[in-house]
Amino acid sequence: DAAEKGGYPHFMLKEIYEEPQTLRNAITGRIKSKLPHFRELEKMGEDLTKIKGITVLACGTSYHAGLVFQRFVQDYAGIRAEIDVASEFRYRNLPLGEGDVVIAISQSGETADTLEGIRKARQSGAKVVSLTNVVGSTISRESDAVIYINAGPEIGVAATKTYVAQLAVLLLLGASLALNKRNPEVISQLVNEIEGLPTVFESVLASADEQCQRLAREYYQFRHFMYIGRGYSYPSALEGALKLKEISYIHASGYQAGELKHGPIALLDRDFPVFAIIPEDELKAKMLSNIMETRARDAKVVAICSESDREVSRAVNSRIEVPKVSAPLYPLVMSPYLQLFAYHVAVARGYDPDRPRNLAKSVTVE
Ligand code: G6P
Repeated sequence: DAAEKGGYPHFMLKEIYEEPQTLRNAITGRIKSKLPHFRELEKMGEDLTKIKGITVLACGTSYHAGLVFQRFVQDYAGIRAEIDVASEFRYRNLPLGEGDVVIAISQSGETADTLEGIRKARQSGAKVVSLTNVVGSTISRESDAVIYINAGPEIGVAATKTYVAQLAVLLLLGASLALNKRNPEVISQLVNEIEGLPTVFESVLASADEQCQRLAREYYQFRHFMYIGRGYSYPSALEGALKLKEISYIHASGYQAGELKHGPIALLDRDFPVFAIIPEDELKAKMLSNIMETRARDAKVVAICSESDREVSRAVNSRIEVPKVSAPLYPLVMSPYLQLFAYHVAVARGYDPDRPRNLAKSVTVE
């Protein structure tokens, strides 16, 4: 067991430390002449140039990766995109047909609701492209095209490196769908930035681990947490909250920061800290004013922000700094920090993060 964990106390930590290599594997073979290229999609030919709309289908952490993709493909490729959790999509009558592409995301490739969603989508005439980590999985066999994220086996129940791999592949996929609409120069710049991420991850992991451990020591005894974010950081708020509740059993919810005033802010007081995802992007000023609103209720605020951001550091109680990147890449860069914070809180509370109660790695019941 100890040997399998490669010297780490838990698989979860080992898998977070594998993320630089995971990113490399996810990107390899997907860039040709500085532009994104998906050989897997060649057989879909015409279908991809004539996309009317995209619908994303997924559960759990994969759904959060899907939220990032949905926003990105709209922003970048100008394609109308919807998203639903698979267990809702199955029972909803979304009109789909020719010209519609469904992107189904499932790490395991076996999630029952996602599989049934795929079957329903194909019956209605849409084409299904699935993104999975498991070669030969049921979902891979039942889709029109499959993109493997190549993350290698993930043992920890809470998804970590597979989320990072999903995000990297989905950003490249979104960029490839934008090739007809955008100046190739703009796309190759983004691709170039994505290619640099494994090195960025390598250079920050040890300090991320140390910062998150320090923060976890300060906050592990709270019973509630509110994660907030806007734009590309909203999915990060959801994923950060999910990681924390999955393995530390602390009640955590993720909210769009602008929604706080419509209800959740009533919960906040000195016993209810806020975890604000606030990178240097066009929504930062709005986030800062949301943070002020929460501070006025005596809530402690932990921020995860871009490095050397004095404005944020003045406004919050504690912070973690992440490297500066372009807005759509923040969900990727934030991931290891959110995972490490949850990991260290779980460990501080005396739980085994690899085997959270009541959860399974792959859910094949409906
Ligand atoms: C389970 C796992 C989650 C995962 C979800 C979706 O609930 O515990 O970590 O995100 O299933 O799994 P999938 O394999 O479809 O991505």
